Amino acid sequence: MKLRHIISANQFDKKTIQTIFTIADKVQSKNTFNNRLKGKIMATLFYEPSTRTRLSFESSILRLGGSVITTESASEFSSAAKGETLEDTIRVVNSFADVIVLRHFNEGASEIAANYSKVPIINAGDGKGEHPSQALLDLYTIFSKFKTKQKKSKDIDLDITISMVGDLKNGRTIHSLTILLSLFPRVKFMFISPKALAIPIYIKKILDEKKISYQEIANLEKALGNSDVIYQTRVQKERFKNLKEYNKFKNLLILDKNSLTRMKKDAIIMHPLPRINEITKDVDDDPRAMYFKQVQNGLFVRMALLVYLFDKEA
Ligand code: CP
Repeated sequence: MKLRHIISANQFDKKTIQTIFTIADKVQSKNTFNNRLKGKIMATLFYEPSTRTRLSFESSILRLGGSVITTESASEFSSAAKGETLEDTIRVVNSFADVIVLRHFNEGASEIAANYSKVPIINAGDGKGEHPSQALLDLYTIFSKFKTKQKKSKDIDLDITISMVGDLKNGRTIHSLTILLSLFPRVKFMFISPKALAIPIYIKKILDEKKISYQEIANLEKALGNSDVIYQTRVQKERFKNLKEYNKFKNLLILDKNSLTRMKKDAIIMHPLPRINEITKDVDDDPRAMYFKQVQNGLFVRMALLVYLFDKEA
């Protein structure tokens, strides 16, 4: 069944992914979607900061012929500051918009919003929960290099080792991408973090149930030579109770020019961005660095996601 709200990566199956990525390929190669969403209005409600997600969703709807209403810093500049609940805000914005893109500091906020919304809700990050549209653009980027097809069914497939690095506890892009990649049983995961920032148990349970192979280690160097994808993330300062705790972890797992010499020649380096210091700037010109390409893919994939949500034929 076609998805109505985009809340979690666990809503996607291979067929839906293929549908969205086929649209993304077309978006990338031609301009046939220019006015596909003419007359549609997107509301972007962002209760946490964003550069990429908000602007790429807004750019996407504008490129598709629609328009945007927005409340950036919604905690401060919307009526949430006067005490309005998220539920009431969503019911109100339903009168103004055809789709709501929501970033909120509470895990589960998008699911609550979807319960009160007649128009599609897109989860643009809910606290340390999930970020499904980022996972889609990440997978699209991984596919651009590593996609294969199953021999018998000709289904899309992946046979890679991915190292997820950094703040795996608080990193919502890590959670959503791991869930999405669990659709591909041959993917092997290495989770590299200090113990205090380890991947959540509920994510490991998903992998266990699907009998997907993973290891948890603390040392990045050990993983470099075995990985097809290094997915680096920042330590999420805003999720720590105090600066002292954050400072303990912020410099532990750094990917630098030295690391490049240990990596496979055809591996790729990904990062959802923003980057702080966990990938040094001298890595940026290496052909394996894909993090700015991810941003570009984000536009194609988010345009495709909007076409998918609105277009009856998609
Ligand atoms: N990757 C990502 O979510 O970036 P922003 O926080 O800038 O939206």
